[in-house]
Amino acid sequence: MKTILVIGATGMLGKPVAKQLLKDGFHVRVLARNPQKAQQILGDGFDIHAGDVANSASVRAAMKNVDGVHISLKGGPSEAEFERMDHYATRDIAQLAKESGTPRITLLSAYAVRPEKADTPESRAKFRGEQALKASGVPYTIFRASWFMESLPLFKQGKTISLIGNQIHPLHWIAAQDYARMVSQSYKSDETLNKELYIFGPEAHTMGDAMKIYAEGTGLKVTPISTTMLSMLGLLTFNTEWKSMAVLMKHYERWGEDGSAEEANRLLGAPKITLKEWCEKNR
Ligand SMILES: NC(=O)c1ccc[n+]([C@@H]2O[C@H](COP(=O)([O-])OP(=O)(O)OC[C@H]3O[C@@H](n4cnc5c(N)ncnc54)[C@H](OP(=O)(O)O)[C@@H]3O)[C@@H](O)[C@H]2O)c1
Repeated sequence: MKTILVIGATGMLGKPVAKQLLKDGFHVRVLARNPQKAQQILGDGFDIHAGDVANSASVRAAMKNVDGVHISLKGGPSEAEFERMDHYATRDIAQLAKESGTPRITLLSAYAVRPEKADTPESRAKFRGEQALKASGVPYTIFRASWFMESLPLFKQGKTISLIGNQIHPLHWIAAQDYARMVSQSYKSDETLNKELYIFGPEAHTMGDAMKIYAEGTGLKVTPISTTMLSMLGLLTFNTEWKSMAVLMKHYERWGEDGSAEEANRLLGAPKITLKEWCEKNR
């Protein structure tokens, strides 16, 4: 039985991966800042180790004798926090993995992480994190995922769902369940090693259309707001989350998807869950 350490297993996108790995017969170890909270979120069957990515001794201990490490961390909203989590944490985990002879690391990244698109603190930090992982010499699989369907509810506030900025690009929305299956599958083959795989869902919808599908029959109103307005509101109210969100959404105004999901789909099985199906279950 292979043991995989999941770092970020209590998160929105780490939890489905940890659960899928367990379901697929892996022994799943979890590094958690608060083990009690992790136990409540994940339920039984996980080997939970107390630790923090800022404490290398705790990461080293959790990494002992594992067959892989999955990284699902989140940085921000400040530039320093993006660097700390998306860049330095990935770099340090990869270094510890190299020292302990860990055979592979899987990393959740994003589709717009490329040098020519690294024009925000988050995309720059994610790009540097990817580079550090590759430079470590530890075999890796980087998942450059599109927008997750699970992100849609995060734009809800009361009876409105905010469409931030002029989001013209069609996006292949992916369900976390499909992505989790693909991550788990990647551990069953060496063909997935040393690759960046683009994880795109089965259909493309602009963000506005996706929100309309999500809002159908709920009474939610899709309400546009410009990135300039959100940025100003963030400044006036000292809300760093809003300022950071405005920067993020400006980034996605500029950059659409341009990777190909062909290789990921061939190696890991194509995602099947459509946005409509996901919305019917998760509205
Ligand atoms: N949303 C999208 O559409 C999308 C698309 C592509 C990529 N992504 C990327 O996916 C990543 C994960 O996002 P998410 O929404 O799953 O984030 P999240 O829910 O905030 O999860 C972050 C995880 O990191 C853990 N963590 C934070 N600080 C830690 C520390 N110092 N030591 C150990 N663990 C720590 C958290 O644990 P605690 O329980 O201790 O807080 C939590 O489990 C992000 O980098 C995001 O940019 C998102």
